Amino acid sequence: MAFVTLITRLATLACLLYISQAQNCWKDTACSGPDDTAFPGPWESNIYAPSSRSVSPKSILSLQTGEVISSFPGDAKLSGNGSQLVFDFGIEVGGLVHLKYLSTGPGALGLAFTEAKNWIGEWSDSSNGKLKGPDGAIYASFNKSGSGTYTMPDLSLRGGFRYLTLFLVTNSTTSVEIKDIQLEIGFEPTWSNLRAYQGYFHSSDELLNKIWYSGAYTLQTNNVPPNTGRQVPFLTTGWANNGTLGPGDTIIVDGAKRDRAVWPGDMGVAVPSTFVSVGDLTAVKNALQVMYNYQNSTTGAFPEAGPPLLQLGSDSYHSVSIVWSMIGSYNYVLYTNDTVFLAQNWAKYLKAMDFIYGKVGDSGLLNVTGLRDWARWQTGFNGSEPNMILYRTLITGAELAIWAGQPSLNATWNERAASLRTAINKYCWDSGYGAFKDNATATTLHPQDANSMAIFFDVVDSTTKAGSISSNLLKNWTPIGAVAPELPENISPFISSFEIQAHFSIGETARALELIRRCWGWYLNNPNGTESTVIEGYLQNGTFGYRSSRGYAYDASYISHSHGWSSGPTSGLTTYVLGLSVTGIGGKEWKLAPQFGDLTSAEGGFMTILGRYQASWQLKAGGYTLSYNVPEETTGQIVLPCLARGNWPRIEIDGHPIPRDTSAQIVGDGVVFSVAGGEHSIEVK
Ligand SMILES: *[C@@H]1O[C@H](CO)[C@@H](O)[C@H](O)[C@H]1NC(C)=O
Ligand SMILES: *[C@@H]1O[C@H](CO)[C@@H](O)[C@H](O)[C@H]1NC(C)=O
Ligand SMILES: *[C@@H]1O[C@H](CO)[C@@H](O)[C@H](O)[C@H]1NC(C)=O
Ligand SMILES: *[C@@H]1O[C@H](CO)[C@@H](O)[C@H](O)[C@H]1NC(C)=O
Ligand SMILES: *[C@@H]1O[C@H](CO)[C@@H](O)[C@H](O)[C@H]1NC(C)=O
Ligand SMILES: *[C@@H]1O[C@H](CO)[C@@H](O)[C@H](O)[C@H]1NC(C)=O
Ligand SMILES: *[C@@H]1O[C@H](CO)[C@@H](O)[C@H](O)[C@H]1NC(C)=O
Ligand SMILES: *[C@@H]1O[C@H](CO)[C@@H](O)[C@H](O)[C@H]1NC(C)=O
Ligand SMILES: *[C@@H]1O[C@H](CO)[C@@H](O)[C@H](O)[C@H]1NC(C)=O
Ligand SMILES: *[C@@H]1O[C@H](CO)[C@@H](O)[C@H](O)[C@H]1NC(C)=O
Ligand SMILES: *[C@@H]1O[C@H](CO)[C@@H](O)[C@H](O)[C@H]1NC(C)=O
Ligand SMILES: *[C@@H]1O[C@H](CO)[C@@H](O)[C@H](O)[C@H]1NC(C)=O
Repeated sequence: MAFVTLITRLATLACLLYISQAQNCWKDTACSGPDDTAFPGPWESNIYAPSSRSVSPKSILSLQTGEVISSFPGDAKLSGNGSQLVFDFGIEVGGLVHLKYLSTGPGALGLAFTEAKNWIGEWSDSSNGKLKGPDGAIYASFNKSGSGTYTMPDLSLRGGFRYLTLFLVTNSTTSVEIKDIQLEIGFEPTWSNLRAYQGYFHSSDELLNKIWYSGAYTLQTNNVPPNTGRQVPFLTTGWANNGTLGPGDTIIVDGAKRDRAVWPGDMGVAVPSTFVSVGDLTAVKNALQVMYNYQNSTTGAFPEAGPPLLQLGSDSYHSVSIVWSMIGSYNYVLYTNDTVFLAQNWAKYLKAMDFIYGKVGDSGLLNVTGLRDWARWQTGFNGSEPNMILYRTLITGAELAIWAGQPSLNATWNERAASLRTAINKYCWDSGYGAFKDNATATTLHPQDANSMAIFFDVVDSTTKAGSISSNLLKNWTPIGAVAPELPENISPFISSFEIQAHFSIGETARALELIRRCWGWYLNNPNGTESTVIEGYLQNGTFGYRSSRGYAYDASYISHSHGWSSGPTSGLTTYVLGLSVTGIGGKEWKLAPQFGDLTSAEGGFMTILGRYQASWQLKAGGYTLSYNVPEETTGQIVLPCLARGNWPRIEIDGHPIPRDTSAQIVGDGVVFSVAGGEHSIEVK
């Protein structure tokens, strides 16, 4: 009897332990993420996300030299006022620190945080003020000797950092031994397993693989509990992350450290990259929903940024964020087939479309009357970049209209897109230079953003013009990335995310790969950075910082080192180098069009509601193999690179030769044909 009771108790205990381990989500957040990765394999060693929500530093550094003095746990003793030690977590992390210590007398431990190594010390990097870092430190004080514990208050959650500096403040000869440091990770709050990626990428180029995973991890650090947004109005000293961002249990913000706000413009890059990698589209849905929830019901305009930041916005009609919210809605519904979300917000979408299209004038161009766009503080008027984004909005809106059961709008919006394209090419193209101008006036500025988008969104009306833009963009390149002429001195991995996709989309694979290696490679290999995420922006002289469009230099430490808008290589490498993308709602249709560049192999995949999509290619002597494994009920378009231009290669599918007939044609440099889903292998010689 006693024995049976014991067994029962043990079983109950084991069960409880199991549950407490399995339910490892943020605080009282219900777990709703996947338990396991959809694609197990050796590439998982490139995932930066920790295997546990509770992590410790990897090593202890000397503040003076920045050198490692011990691994962690290790000898970590602070003696006397002002003594300090730096704890390096090895990667970007974020959340609440728990300390255990043993003191010999009264005093206080200061905790200061930084993403970049440049700002280790008693002052945290800046998350809360652009011009002068007011963040400072937070303190754990103790009045007597003995052991003690400290947990950061929720309000002081630090959203993004790699380095924690602990320093001792005391009036006496107190010394303190740090017995334990545990960080409770705040991001990806609904996932019990932070490594349960729903997509993967693996190629013969290890730097590209790591860049792909640094984009994915960045996006995870941007998926945050909705009650941990940056407090508005901003504090004048310290920081507070207790703002309410929107609905649900998880929401995607712009950056881990800051702004910790929903910025729709950022989602133009972040959403496609989320889909092919981590796969947490719930955070995306909640971020889009908050924009609809805060739409101005009179005008149809969306706020510039989600709450609580929106309260600052007197300029509530920021055109660019309207159109990005609309493109974001398209991407979200394309990937998920969430027609419930679409139906719920369709009337508001229509109102937003009326609002923005109402600003198209007699010339056929959008006339932006609101303030502030990326790199431009002043009013944009007929700026090329907002016009490019409006074009993409109309094209994607036309398809959304069909999904929303209002197909008559498909024709209307496609016609509007066509006339906008004509107007952009007529008024904004600089034929003398061979690229688009910044707007429809006589300006000589040829911006990186509008020109990259012109190719990527297919606004440019000839392949010759597209080729000329692609070549002209190279003039902005430096050894560490492309300097944006519209924001002098700055290198923007956000806008460069569009540039790489522009080069890829017209087959300039070598250019796209070169820019990825220069820009993202520079940051990932920079020992002062996080070595695990993608940065918001940096300066052409190779220092961290930002020159604003208003002319002043931000506090260099204000830059976010984990910013999803810079994650373009993650979707770019999957969509173009592996070549796999979805083209029909929910993944019903897909495309496989690999671009080899200088690689010898690549594989990868992602998930939709229909299941797993996976593909791989490998060069061989005189040819290559291309395999795919996708849901049976889908159809795909395959574009095979020809080995010699214009030559008909020998192609076998599952060992059966396919002849050159009407179902397989040469288009440009590729052989194009349609296939059914399932698991198949193609050999090309
Ligand atoms: C303790 O050190 C700090 C700098 O770390 C200094 O500002 C402060 O004046 C020192 N206090 C005493 C009592 O020495
Ligand atoms: C040090 O002494 C000053 C003046 O007595 C007091 O205000 C302060 O709280 C003390 N600091 C610590 C850390 O004990
Ligand atoms: C890293 O930062 C230190 C200190 O600011 C600087 O001296 C060093 O040149 C930087 N290294 C790189 C690679 O930027
Ligand atoms: C230490 O003593 C001060 C002054 O009495 C008090 O304000 C503070 O709350 C005490 N701190 C702790 C951790 O007990
Ligand atoms: C957040 O914290 C700040 C500073 O303590 C406080 O003023 C503010 O009211 C809090 N905001 C919310 C939404 O709780
Ligand atoms: C909606 O926009 C109108 C026109 O710009 C403005 O007057 C009104 O205050 C806005 N409403 C809200 C709730 O912001
Ligand atoms: C654009 O809008 C502004 C503000 O309403 C107006 O002053 C300007 O004339 C418009 N430009 C064109 C080309 O319609
Ligand atoms: C949508 O419009 C485009 C362009 O007019 C047309 O090619 C396409 O067939 C239309 N799609 C549907 C489903 O009506
Ligand atoms: C056109 O672009 C140039 C270069 O950015 C800028 O200086 C000018 O103000 C813009 N003009 C208008 C009307 O927006
Ligand atoms: C572009 O905007 C400028 C400044 O508002 C205006 O002078 C010009 O006529 C506009 N051009 C077109 C084609 O709309
Ligand atoms: C880099 O450029 C910024 C902005 O012009 C400047 O403030 C900084 O001093 C420069 N740093 C170096 C190391 O040249
Ligand atoms: C998308 O959802 C609709 C409505 O729920 C359904 O009829 C359709 O089969 C779904 N499509 C896919 C690809 O799952």
